[in-house]
Amino acid sequence: MSGSLLPGYWYVVAESRELTCDSLLSRQVLDVWIACYRDAQGNAVIAEDRCLHRCARLSNGKVRDGELTCGYHGWVYGEAGKVIAIPGEGGAAAATKRNLQAKAFSTREQDGYVYVCLQPGAQTPATAFVLPRPEASGWRHLRLQNRFRNSMVNCVENYIDVPHTAYVHHGVFRKPRQQQIQVSVSRSKGHVRVQYLGETMNLGSFAWFLNPKGGEIEHEDNFYAPNVTSVHYRLPRGYSYIITSQSVPVSDMETLVYTDISYYFGRWTALAGWITRRQAQTVINQDIDILNQQAEVIEKYGENFFTTAPDIIHSLTSEIITALQQGTTPAELPDQKKEVRFWV
Ligand code: FES
Ligand SMILES: [Fe+2]
Repeated sequence: MSGSLLPGYWYVVAESRELTCDSLLSRQVLDVWIACYRDAQGNAVIAEDRCLHRCARLSNGKVRDGELTCGYHGWVYGEAGKVIAIPGEGGAAAATKRNLQAKAFSTREQDGYVYVCLQPGAQTPATAFVLPRPEASGWRHLRLQNRFRNSMVNCVENYIDVPHTAYVHHGVFRKPRQQQIQVSVSRSKGHVRVQYLGETMNLGSFAWFLNPKGGEIEHEDNFYAPNVTSVHYRLPRGYSYIITSQSVPVSDMETLVYTDISYYFGRWTALAGWITRRQAQTVINQDIDILNQQAEVIEKYGENFFTTAPDIIHSLTSEIITALQQGTTPAELPDQKKEVRFWV
C-alpha cells in the first residue's frame, strides 16, 4: 500500500445492493485487491483477494449460499474468511483441524453502502460518514459511481472548487459573469466549511426553473477528512439539493467516486429524477475529462500548483490530508477562519 493512502478510515467498497448472497465482487481499495461476498448470515466478508493455498484470486471463484469456493483446488471459505473445507485432504474435517482464515478486514454497512477499513486495529470512527439524506417527505435520492484517473486529493479539490464550474461546465452549471462573491471559510478539526454569500442565480441552463427571479442562493460546501465532500444549495422557492461525494482511492492515481444526490424541487421532484441524473452525469463526465488531463500533466511535469485567493480552500483541505499522512490528527491543526472574495 502506498504511503500517501490512508488505511485507517472507512471506505466504500460496494453498494449494498451489488453484494447479493450469490455474488462475488472483485475490487481494489487503496491498492489492496479485495474479494467481497456475503456469508450464510448475510454479513459482508471483505477478504484479501488471495487464496491461502496456492495464491489463486478468490474473486475468480464461486459463491453459493454464503460459501466461497476457490477456482483452483476448491478450498471453501465461509464466515469471516474462515477455511471450512479442504477437498484435497478430505473436506471439512481437515479444515477444522488446520483452523485457517483468509486475511479479512473490518466491515460495516450503512446508508446502503458496504464499507471497509484496511488497517487492523485502527482507531476508526465507530460509524462511517453519515450521509446527509433528508428524510422529509418529498425528497428524492439518487446515486452514481464514476472512475477518475487522478488522486483522491485532486478529486476532492475539484468537487468543492467553484471557479472551474464556469469553464468546465460552461452553460450547464455556471457561466463566467465576473460576479463578486463573499466567501467565508472555516476549518475545525477535520472539517472545512465554505459558505458562499451574495451569489444570485448563475446555475446555467436550468436557472429559469431553479430560480427564475434570480434571488440570492444559499450555498455551502463541506469537506470531511479524509475523503468526503458535501455541497448544499438552497434556492429561494424552497428548492434544495445536496451532492455528497465519497472519493475512494483505488490507487495513488485512480479514484472511484460514489456520488449521492438528494433533491427537492417542490411538486416537480418526482418528475425531476431522470433529468437530475442526466445533468449530474454530464457534469461528472466533464470533471473526469479535466481531471484526466490534469493527471497527465502532473505525471509528466510533477505537481506544481500556484495558489490564488479561491485556492485557500484547497490549501486548507490538503493540509488536513498531509497531516493525516504524517500521522498527526486533524484536531492538532489550528482552527482557521477566513473571509475571502472572488469572482465567478
Ligand atoms: S489456490 Fe485456491 S484452492 Fe488452491
Ligand atoms: Fe466540476
